[in-house]
Amino acid sequence: MSEKKEITLLYKWIGMILSMLLVADITYAQTAMINVASRKAISLNGEWNVILDPTGIGEWRQIWLENKAKSKTDFVEYSFEGSPTLKVPGDFNSQMPELTYFEGVVWYKKEFSCTPVKNKRLFIHFGAVNYLATVYLNGKKIGSHEGGFTPFQFEITEGVRSGINALVVKVDNKRLQNGLPGLGYDWLNYGGITRDVNLIQTATTYIEDYSIQLIKGSRKEVKGWIKLNGVNREQTVKIQIPELGLAYSAKSDRMGLAKLHFTGAFKLWSLENPKRYRVSVESETDSINDEIGFRNVEVAGSRVLLNGKVVFLKGINIHEENPYKGARAFSKEDAILLLNQAKALCCNMVRLVHYPHNEHIINEAEKMGLMVWSELPVYQHIEFSDTAVVSKMDLMLKEMIRRDRNRCTVVIWSLSNETYDGTPNRTKALATLTQVCRQLDSTRLITHVTNSQSYNNNSFKVVDSLYKYADIISINEYIGWYMPWQGKPENVSWKMAFPGKPVFISEFGGEALFGNVSGAADEAASWREEYQQQIYINQLKMFNNIPNLCGVAPWLLFDYRSLGRMHPVYQKGYNRKGLLSEKGEKKLAWYTMEQYYKRK
Ligand code: GCU
Repeated sequence: MSEKKEITLLYKWIGMILSMLLVADITYAQTAMINVASRKAISLNGEWNVILDPTGIGEWRQIWLENKAKSKTDFVEYSFEGSPTLKVPGDFNSQMPELTYFEGVVWYKKEFSCTPVKNKRLFIHFGAVNYLATVYLNGKKIGSHEGGFTPFQFEITEGVRSGINALVVKVDNKRLQNGLPGLGYDWLNYGGITRDVNLIQTATTYIEDYSIQLIKGSRKEVKGWIKLNGVNREQTVKIQIPELGLAYSAKSDRMGLAKLHFTGAFKLWSLENPKRYRVSVESETDSINDEIGFRNVEVAGSRVLLNGKVVFLKGINIHEENPYKGARAFSKEDAILLLNQAKALCCNMVRLVHYPHNEHIINEAEKMGLMVWSELPVYQHIEFSDTAVVSKMDLMLKEMIRRDRNRCTVVIWSLSNETYDGTPNRTKALATLTQVCRQLDSTRLITHVTNSQSYNNNSFKVVDSLYKYADIISINEYIGWYMPWQGKPENVSWKMAFPGKPVFISEFGGEALFGNVSGAADEAASWREEYQQQIYINQLKMFNNIPNLCGVAPWLLFDYRSLGRMHPVYQKGYNRKGLLSEKGEKKLAWYTMEQYYKRK
């Protein structure tokens, strides 16, 4: 078939899909516009009325219609009026005792007043909702979004009315066999509207997305683009960096895409000097400001380079949890709290596990000069042979990259954690995902984390076909905790699947209950700090013999909530592998790790 015929067929196919969607009157969430913080927005954060729906009957009752009794003999068995409220942003598990372990449906409602403005567009933007969000405006479904950790939006220009509007969100954090993550994961499944919600007004044609960063290997050459959304897509666009006296213009095409290519004498963003420039991104009908750092990150042989200099990744694993509250972290204050502890440990990188974290922590890390590893919740048991899962991974990747592509501090995209070589379609699906990631973003490194290694006769063999596609080989290993040492740590021999690539130990460690002095200090089952510290001492000895070691990340910074950790004395619903207790108390191993990083 000729190319022309193929394109015609493709447009016919797209037309058919669109008409089906219009007929079905269901709009799927749009991939969100970026840099919300810099836009004209009205925050919908605050108290939202909620209806707890553990049986899921709210769907049958059509709660979003908010029916009222119509006569003296009529009645309705639900109401947002007089209902309890929950704070948004925030998980619902930590806000109500009856919701602590809840995995199901909570209906949220917020009223907002609005005066539609001619020639302006209006969007409702969610930073994240875990896990499934179905959104209704004034009793009408406007769409749904799946995925608990990436932003999404709906255009409500047509649906909004003058005066009071009712926004209802059905939030369902039930686990799905074909979800991302799937049914099993080692963290508390915080549900709710867990990040900021904003009403955003834009011009009829607005700047929905852009990419501005140095090309790999250059200190001064920027290639990027600006994407306009709206009816008047062919415009002159402009980039200005006042501090450099830089102004660059380009024309967007009929798809609204303008290519950028310019040079600048940038002071590079670095760990010592996390320099960012105010960049204004303008079109004829819209303009927004961003703070962009310019840097290079690449692999050279078995080393990772930042701005051409070898950097050893002194990492730490961090879950998105405020340990003092035992709640989902979502705020700038939460971010600073967690990152300050990473700095105190002399880290230069944070591995944000196992899902994209909120924008505040990315932004604060960038300001503090902490590199960020961002990760998809493609975690352990995933239904890779389900085509729905493959498209969910694809969409989530696009949402993650679109949101943070201009955040120079994000240096590594991690596309999976501990999936298994033998799972049907796993390697093919993840190889494809890696390819898509590289196409979407050529300025960062890509990795997959595995634990599919073998440890026999004190020899550690790393085998996984996935490594062929990754820039960095990332390994979780818990020698000394889940598997006893088979000989001296300094004598462990490492055999690599891909000898030339950098190796990153993305998780290691063991559990200890802070301050526990009961039980024998040399027995794992005592949950003693001394035992945990000895694991660290041994691991650090072993690290000296790992070829191509480009960095490490202890598991993990704080003890954190995970309901599968059920020991009634030592765990109480917490994974105790933290270097810090959930009260911020330093365990003995913390000091061992701090010394190691200080010397590195
Ligand atoms: C795994 C996994 C973590 C988990 C950790 C543990 O490697 O990646 O999510 O919490 O081990 O067992 O504590």
